[in-house]
Amino acid sequence: MDSTEPSGPGVSAPMANRKLRHIDACLHGPVSYQTVTTGFERYRLPYNALTQTSLGAVDLRTTFLGAPLRAPVLIGAMTGGAELSGTINRNLAEAAQKLGIGMMLGSQRIMLDNDSAATIFEVRELAPDVLLIGNIGLAQLSDALTPTLTAALNRIGADALAVHTNPLQEAMQDNGDTDFTGSLERLGRLAEELPFPVLLKEVGHGIGAAAAERLRGLPIAAVDVAGAGGTSWARVEQLVRYGEVRHPAIAEWGVPTAQALTEVRATLPGVPLVASGGIRTGVDAAKALMMGADMVALARPLLAPAIESPAAAIDALHGFIEELRVCLHGCGAPDLPTLRGLSLTPLG
Ligand SMILES: Cc1cc2nc3c(=O)[nH]c(=O)nc-3n(C[C@H](O)[C@H](O)[C@H](O)COP(=O)(O)O)c2cc1C
Repeated sequence: MDSTEPSGPGVSAPMANRKLRHIDACLHGPVSYQTVTTGFERYRLPYNALTQTSLGAVDLRTTFLGAPLRAPVLIGAMTGGAELSGTINRNLAEAAQKLGIGMMLGSQRIMLDNDSAATIFEVRELAPDVLLIGNIGLAQLSDALTPTLTAALNRIGADALAVHTNPLQEAMQDNGDTDFTGSLERLGRLAEELPFPVLLKEVGHGIGAAAAERLRGLPIAAVDVAGAGGTSWARVEQLVRYGEVRHPAIAEWGVPTAQALTEVRATLPGVPLVASGGIRTGVDAAKALMMGADMVALARPLLAPAIESPAAAIDALHGFIEELRVCLHGCGAPDLPTLRGLSLTPLG
């Protein structure tokens, strides 16, 4: 993700090409895990034929990082290089504003290297009320970057920063940033010094028990587990680098999303959690919320609609949210706190 360098005017052509190959792979390639699933399919929602709810009155409202939201849904972080990212961000921002949900932007590294790239992320006018979360890679963090990052977040009117940790992705990438030594300390200092809440996320290989243990005591505002079962970025990087998957076992490696959620919830009981990585349906979302997630996020299913138009992005997200609403109705839950009080049935 964050190996993005500026593209477009005055920007490295190979890097721009690589970002386009990422997008092409994500739109057309076999980038999902082939053998690993999120694990949500191992549970059944508790159906209640005598629900006393009215579908239209089911209340999905919540708050996250202090922001009121009409549904517990975040648009996942996606970068598309200079040209496409602007379109993606603007279309998704319009959708987020219309639906009253939050939005994670793609990596802002491009903006730190090239001031004119700020326009790619300037969506505040389109989304004045949206919880807007900026993005940067853990491997690229340095103490010296904090003032620049603060300025970048202020410039786009962000409410928070998501730091993505992606050692497996970087290891598969040609010239990836593979030195993660000292990154935990840098993350801790950033979270202390940055005048914005800092959320830590993965990119689809999962934050599980071992990583959560390391976060104990750090002033992290939230964790997005971004688990395995959806898009495998170790797979995307291999497809882009070699035109094939040369290390299939590495592409299938990660903490499945449901497991990641359970482990992080147990290790960090008070920390707000986002479930993402392979969240594809309202049913997945309902199960994740019942397993301890405060929010859900989805990324790749929104890529094609985000490139197409604001209406296509709204349509995709609206369908997802309405399916979640039906789930609460069918569970007999008029609102999210009631849903969270119910239990999932493990299968077999
Ligand atoms: C096209 C694309 C670009 C992405 N760029 C970023 C990025 O810049 N920063 C980031 O933290 N994650 C990025 N991601 C990862 C997603 O935010 C998400 O963690 C991952 O794709 C797993 O979710 P999914 O299964 O819903 O796609 C990107 C994903 C896609 C599909």
